Amino acid sequence: ADAAVIPALVIGTGYGGSVAALRLAQAGVDVHMVEMGMAWDTPGADGKIFANTTTPDQRSFWLRTKTKQPLSNFLGFPIDKAIPRYTGVLDAEEFAGITVYQGRGVGGGSLVNGGMAVTPKREYFGDVLPMVNADEMYNRYYPRANAELGVGLIRPEWFETTDAYQYARVGRKHAQRSNFPHVFVPTVYDWNYMEQEAAGTVPKSALIGEILYGNNYGKKSLQQTYLSKVRATGRVTISPLHRVVSVVPAAGGYSVTIEQLNTNGDPIATKQITAAKVFFAAGSVGTSKLLVKLKATGALPNLNGEVGKGWGDNGNVMCGRANHMWDPTGALQSSIPTLGIDNWVAGGAFAEVAPLPTGIETYASFYLSITRTPNRAQFSWNPTTSKVDLSWQTAWKGVSINAAKTIFDKINSKEGTIYRTDFFGAYKIWGDHLTYHPLGGAILNKATDNYGRLHGYPGLYVIDGSLIPGSTVVNPFVTITALAERNIEKIIATDL
Ligand code: FDA
Repeated sequence: ADAAVIPALVIGTGYGGSVAALRLAQAGVDVHMVEMGMAWDTPGADGKIFANTTTPDQRSFWLRTKTKQPLSNFLGFPIDKAIPRYTGVLDAEEFAGITVYQGRGVGGGSLVNGGMAVTPKREYFGDVLPMVNADEMYNRYYPRANAELGVGLIRPEWFETTDAYQYARVGRKHAQRSNFPHVFVPTVYDWNYMEQEAAGTVPKSALIGEILYGNNYGKKSLQQTYLSKVRATGRVTISPLHRVVSVVPAAGGYSVTIEQLNTNGDPIATKQITAAKVFFAAGSVGTSKLLVKLKATGALPNLNGEVGKGWGDNGNVMCGRANHMWDPTGALQSSIPTLGIDNWVAGGAFAEVAPLPTGIETYASFYLSITRTPNRAQFSWNPTTSKVDLSWQTAWKGVSINAAKTIFDKINSKEGTIYRTDFFGAYKIWGDHLTYHPLGGAILNKATDNYGRLHGYPGLYVIDGSLIPGSTVVNPFVTITALAERNIEKIIATDL
């Protein structure tokens, strides 16, 4: 046991945690970051840090003996395969009604996500964070987040000509023919690098299908942005393969119990640290699970009744369409999506034209839709299993399917095409069993005050996606980052 009290401990190294650590360190505060996943800084036997999407191995999944790919089937065949159990980078965490995909490792979701970096349209911001001053966000914190994350747009001339975005041009053509507006989606991929990949002058990443299990080059994950600045401050230590299991009040702050894990996921040591301030940045699911457990088991009994509530899936639903032979989508598909179809106002759906980087011509268009849905679930402690349950029900995705259909039924009818029925199991059109965008569980201004200070416990903060009430109307990480920038600025100004 360490008798000294450290000034700040951050649980998790995703967007919220990285912003908190950087700004605290720049303000002169020493920070300890605790991350349950691996460091992802050492190449494997193949010379690469991350595995390719087409050839999953032990690095691909968090503690599974079989892959659980979002698209489980192809041309009628199940495609999941056996892998060694390991602390891999992508967690497909299963609750009763939904599988929640999340990144595990230093960098959190930035290690595995599609890199789409979207600022919601200002007119929709009231639907996202009604309790936050929109002027401040759009004048100050969104620009700051976009700059730090390195957000950029594809070069239009290249988009129009490269084989790698044939699939997106087909998606755009079909959207246009059905009178849907389309938008180019900014990303954190280095677009110059991708053009060099296409020219054959650098090692390939997006153009050989790297994405879900990590990108070895080209993508600016948090390791290349916030966390590299964090390291440069010299004030932050990061402990990978360490999981926070408890936080209780103690003299000088909070006593935090941390389990060190081996790469089989087994605890090999238990450590105790006392911290004056603790920032929960374990992601929507991780933070919610911790807080609900700590409240129910008596470690933090004064957390209020809002803890665990207001969780949403950002309305995620997937589908594919079968194109005619004259609309090939290309054997080469960049793994970074960059085109969206916006039917938010009329139909409650924003669909991104997603790649199917199989390496063969599939004549398929594939889409991930973000939809408007009123459904919100709650995390609760289950004393029988000693686990946290989530009340989400699969049938609730019906609203999202209907919203997505406002786009794709119309396109199918215009083009004379049909949905693919071979991606999610036999004759199943809709990928309605999953989300990539967990949000909520410790809602801003409800479980916390309007800056993420947890009610009942001075010195405890939430600073990740769990603050956001279930929807960001577009992909969430820019909003998570901008909100964290706003909150930490206030906390540093008033609480230090
Ligand atoms: P985040 O999940 O990033 O980080 C939390 C960290 O805490 C994790 O590293 C976790 O291992 C760690 N942790 C959890 N519990 C812990 C504990 N008890 N102790 C220690 N550490 C713990 N978004 C977007 O805007 N554009 C996109 O293109 C995509 N695409 C996409 C694809 C896929 C496959 C996924 C899974 C996700 C996306 N996303 C996305 C979503 C985006 O990645 C996500 O919203 C953010 O990563 C959430 O940021 P947070 O800071 O909330 O947590």
